[in-house]
Amino acid sequence: MSFRTPLMDTLGLDHPIIQAPMAGGGDTPALVAAVSQAGGMGFFGGAYLSPDQIIESGRAIRSSTNRRFGVNLFAPQPVSEPPTAPHRAVDRVAPFFAELGLETPSPPVLAADPFEDRLAAALESGVSAFSFTLGLLPDFAVQAIKAKGMTLIGTATTVDEAVALERSGVDAIVAQGGEAGGHRGTFLGDLNAGVVGTMALVPQVLDAVSIPVIASGGIMDGRGIAAALVLGADAVQMGTAFLTCGEAGVPDAYKAAIFAATESRTRVTRAFSGRPARGIVNRFMETVEAGASGDDILAFPLQNTLTRPMRTAAGKQGKADYLSLWAGQGVRLARRLSAPDLMSALVAETDAALARVAAR
Ligand SMILES: Cc1cc2nc3c(=O)[nH]c(=O)nc-3n(C[C@H](O)[C@H](O)[C@H](O)COP(=O)(O)O)c2cc1C
Repeated sequence: MSFRTPLMDTLGLDHPIIQAPMAGGGDTPALVAAVSQAGGMGFFGGAYLSPDQIIESGRAIRSSTNRRFGVNLFAPQPVSEPPTAPHRAVDRVAPFFAELGLETPSPPVLAADPFEDRLAAALESGVSAFSFTLGLLPDFAVQAIKAKGMTLIGTATTVDEAVALERSGVDAIVAQGGEAGGHRGTFLGDLNAGVVGTMALVPQVLDAVSIPVIASGGIMDGRGIAAALVLGADAVQMGTAFLTCGEAGVPDAYKAAIFAATESRTRVTRAFSGRPARGIVNRFMETVEAGASGDDILAFPLQNTLTRPMRTAAGKQGKADYLSLWAGQGVRLARRLSAPDLMSALVAETDAALARVAAR
């Protein structure tokens, strides 16, 4: 790609394309390595991995590429009040457990957040960039990451969050628009309010901060990448587009659901994890959300813990109606390609789109 941006130099990229971290298994070492090897940058999500698994993932990626790659964690979450009626959430999900042949789950209990152990592992995992979402990092973490010479990238869904992230010392910001698949990074104000589209968010964030901005949300092909670059983004971060690659580690039923979905069949829901996240509408989402209030859906991470055995069993049984089918609004543009082939296509399409605009 003829286009170069300052962040591409900082991260050592040939192309301004970042494969989004996708905690939960989509972002296999094979996917991350293939994207980095093709001149973009792959990230692996460590939010649900043990410290040993983080080290192991880093090692597995490094064994397949000498190019740079990154890690991603969730920022530590404020501890919420314990639910007063957790059985209400249990009652809502129990029929789905039964359908899969699982016993009724127990009310989940809050485990200690192993953020510091994951951070320590991430620092030793061989990455050159560290991104995070769902909040700000504590000062000690910012210092430790910078002391390692890693590029630090935070996630914003509003201008206020971008400003707070810049003040906290990050080197770049992922501006995550409302189209994005997966968890909303929102951490200031009403968690349900931060659904601003990528087209509106990116230029407003750019006007408010002086560090590079990475556009994310609904970008699936070279037209989207070109649009983000024209808006002023230094790079894009794409999740859903990479989920249907052969290297991605999600069940076939999940990939099939993406190919069957349309732009209006994704929704932001709390039903699976307790935190707003965009995924393809399925029966679990619709049923659990219907008329829900209070402890019908628990706060993150309790709801996530509650539904995990169901999601794991559904993956093994190939049943998409019980999976958290995180995906963005660009689902119709999903392709069944290998990661290297997708990267080649994205680069060619971006060049073609920029040339088309220049020729007009
Ligand atoms: C399956 C899935 C898992 C995700 N997991 C993470 C994660 O662990 N950390 C993170 O910062 N973002 C995560 N995201 C959000 C992405 O970083 C990104 O904002 C989003 O994929 C962009 O929208 P798109 O899917 O339309 O490309 C996830 C997205 C998906 C689809």
